[in-house]
Amino acid sequence: MKVHFIDFSYGKQKTLQNTSIVVLAGVVLTFLTIVFLYYPLLLDYPFSLISSSSQSSSSILPPPSSPSNVREESRRVDVKKNCNIFAGEWIPNPEAPYYTNDTCEWAIYDHQNCMKYGRPDSDFMKWRWKPNDCELPIFDPSKFLDLVKGKSLAFVGDSVARNQMQSLLCLLSKVEYPVDVSKSPDEQSRTWQYTNHNFTVANFWSPYLVKVSEADPMFPSLFSLYLDEFDDSWTSKIHEFDHVIISAGHWFFRPAKYFEDNQLVGCHYCTDKNVTELGMYYSYGKAFRTAFRAINSLKNSKGITFLRTFAPSHFENGEWNKGGDCVRRKPFKSNETRLSGTDLELYMAQVREFKVAESEGLKRGLKFRLLDTTNIMLLRPDGHPSQYGHLPEANTTTWHRDCVHWCLPGPIDTWNDFLLEMLNIEL
Ligand SMILES: *[C@@H]1O[C@H](CO)[C@@H](O)[C@H](O)[C@H]1NC(C)=O
Ligand SMILES: *[C@@H]1O[C@H](CO)[C@@H](O)[C@H](O)[C@H]1NC(C)=O
Ligand SMILES: *[C@@H]1O[C@H](CO)[C@@H](O)[C@H](O)[C@H]1NC(C)=O
Ligand SMILES: *[C@@H]1O[C@H](CO)[C@@H](O)[C@H](O)[C@H]1NC(C)=O
Ligand SMILES: *[C@@H]1O[C@H](CO)[C@@H](O)[C@H](O)[C@H]1NC(C)=O
Repeated sequence: MKVHFIDFSYGKQKTLQNTSIVVLAGVVLTFLTIVFLYYPLLLDYPFSLISSSSQSSSSILPPPSSPSNVREESRRVDVKKNCNIFAGEWIPNPEAPYYTNDTCEWAIYDHQNCMKYGRPDSDFMKWRWKPNDCELPIFDPSKFLDLVKGKSLAFVGDSVARNQMQSLLCLLSKVEYPVDVSKSPDEQSRTWQYTNHNFTVANFWSPYLVKVSEADPMFPSLFSLYLDEFDDSWTSKIHEFDHVIISAGHWFFRPAKYFEDNQLVGCHYCTDKNVTELGMYYSYGKAFRTAFRAINSLKNSKGITFLRTFAPSHFENGEWNKGGDCVRRKPFKSNETRLSGTDLELYMAQVREFKVAESEGLKRGLKFRLLDTTNIMLLRPDGHPSQYGHLPEANTTTWHRDCVHWCLPGPIDTWNDFLLEMLNIEL
């Protein structure tokens, strides 16, 4: 109950995503032109994606539109593996899912256990991601556990980060059940040990990634974010982990005060007229900058840091607290929608910081990789719990429709397909 409320009571002010999804080619072209003019970063990003392919390629040159300033590292990866695994479509997969609410009841968090709460349809579990130019293999638990033998993996972020960890636990449970070896009683942060494979996986609850305090006892949901200070709850422990998956997002919609150098520098939706409204994109970028700085200040880290990019929500016909819901029952085709508005801004803010951290990491021998899920998840309005995250008789004035998290089994199982594929390339 408590956890659910904490997870969900973010003050999302996002306006409705345009429900008209038929985009005329001319509009798209104009849009792309504008985007590329103002956001060269977007143009840049596909070339740095870690990508995979079964095809070996010897003489592939970057496409003509490739900007000349693509860094050598990115180019090398691109030439070696000529496939962007993040560009593709969702295609039907009758064989899915690979676990059920019955085989993995112990790991699935109740509010994402959509079948338990009576979701009538099951098609949302029966899709897989098909990259345009190669295959993305379905998660192979034995292969994963062999790859990570003797290693450890940490998820840092909010409840969507935990959502992915639970998917991973479920996918791996075909081969081995882990032991809960958590040192803290905090239900929000758990550590699991796969003793047969000497693999540890943990999640660190840190929805803002940086140091936070509650701003005012009178307004308990108004947080103070110390945008340049580490959140010790994870930064003090992260050196124990080989691989780290960082993500954040939906909490940044809430009202907050922003501090830098211990001074109040601005805020988001606060009522104090004397304080500058800096907006969520500002704090979002800064929070990632600080989180990446914590990683880059580690000594002797041999693992990989993944940025799992923002996963859009899909409220339609109202905001999250104004009757918005997600009732679609199948994925979009990639030509039926496009990243825009808040989703696009958040995505670009985090990828911008990722780029900086990646080149800093390169100097220090640290690997940063994009787990570039934003566009992919934009296409999955059908994958959220909506009303099936709790019993129907639960008080509807306090239980909103959940179009933020993802049903398990469900589309975010694919994030672990990507994770395995990327680890497979690197290790
Ligand atoms: C999207 O592409 C499919 C083919 O993959 C095509 O049948 C459909 O008409 C396209 N839709 C739009 C809105 O362009
Ligand atoms: C799993 O879902 C089914 C409905 O598909 C439900 O009857 C069953 O109680 C659920 N089991 C658990 C353990 O949640
Ligand atoms: C498990 O992995 C850790 C870290 O690599 C290593 O120090 C330890 O010796 C391993 N334990 C066993 C039993 O293999
Ligand atoms: C705003 O700033 C002015 C000048 O610094 C000050 O006189 C005033 O009391 C401040 N108001 C609030 C609400 O803090
Ligand atoms: C539902 O919750 C609201 C707000 O907490 C409360 O005022 C109302 O009495 C509750 N209704 C029921 C049926 O429990």
